[in-house]
Amino acid sequence: MAAELIKTYQTRAEQVLDQRLPAASLHPNNLHQAMRYAVLGGGKRIRPVLVYLAGHAVSASLDMLDGPACAVEFIHAYSLIHDDLPAMDNDDLRHGQPACHKAFGEALAILAGDALQALAFQVLAQDPAMIPSPAIRLQMQGILAQAAGSRGMAGGQAIDLAAIGQELTLAELENMHIHKTGALIRASVLMGALSQPAVESTILERLDRYAKCIGLAFQIQDDILDVMGDTITLGKTSGVDRVLNKPTYPALLGVEGAREHARMLYEEALASLESLDGNADPLRRIAAYIVERAY
Ligand code: IPE
Ligand code: IPE
Ligand code: MG
Ligand code: MG
Ligand code: MG
Repeated sequence: MAAELIKTYQTRAEQVLDQRLPAASLHPNNLHQAMRYAVLGGGKRIRPVLVYLAGHAVSASLDMLDGPACAVEFIHAYSLIHDDLPAMDNDDLRHGQPACHKAFGEALAILAGDALQALAFQVLAQDPAMIPSPAIRLQMQGILAQAAGSRGMAGGQAIDLAAIGQELTLAELENMHIHKTGALIRASVLMGALSQPAVESTILERLDRYAKCIGLAFQIQDDILDVMGDTITLGKTSGVDRVLNKPTYPALLGVEGAREHARMLYEEALASLESLDGNADPLRRIAAYIVERAY
């Protein structure tokens, strides 16, 4: 049941992303093609699914969740385009296809990222199906802006680049991961929950604690898969963290130590949901998936 719901929401995310992206035939065509290529070319849709599942946990209306689901995935897709650029991780492969800058050139890839970031906020401002309350929309815009910006994902990416070749402590590594990956995952859960205007603040706090745990666990598993996964299964080049000399959880704790750490976070995520009813079961299921996934 929970697993089916996750699949249903993945499919829904594919559809709503497609609808909200500008048509490839719209001028400037090459920019819109690059945006559509980066967003629709693959991906697990974890962040939009988390928006839907957090909304499901608090009985939010489904139509109201499409906007925040798209917004966070647009930010995520932009972050991957820029992450793959030669000035960052210099990776040629994403979702089993040439990275956006390989398919469209660096300049257009940079612009596609820029435009996707703007589109995310346009959706939160203008989506007709979203929660009508201007105050809640504004709150979501603030949450997403903070999660994407210098105190969130972009800041985490800056920490990541500065950490190349460094030996970070566990606390420093955790800080980097919480920002570069955790922040958007946290924003996803919060925006989903806020789509229910009657949501209680204690529930929001519990969901936020859950999201912090799975956000960190998600990047730990990404680091583990970089070591243990193969390029075909991952759809992105495996082993790059070592080549690029990035500090990672497996480098610091060993693969088993990193797995144990992710497991601990999973347990903590579940404990955070203890007082929530069966509507939170899909959130429990996806937490397990995050630490068990193979790509
Ligand atoms: C990859 O994220 C980058 C990280 C933040 C770890 P995902 O593994 O969610 O990427 P896709 O969208 O499914 O390809
Ligand atoms: C990227 O982390 C985090 C982002 C904000 C995009 P990685 O550099 O490890 O992501 P992958 O492994 O290339 O997907
Ligand atoms: Mg990176
Ligand atoms: Mg990378
Ligand atoms: Mg990685």
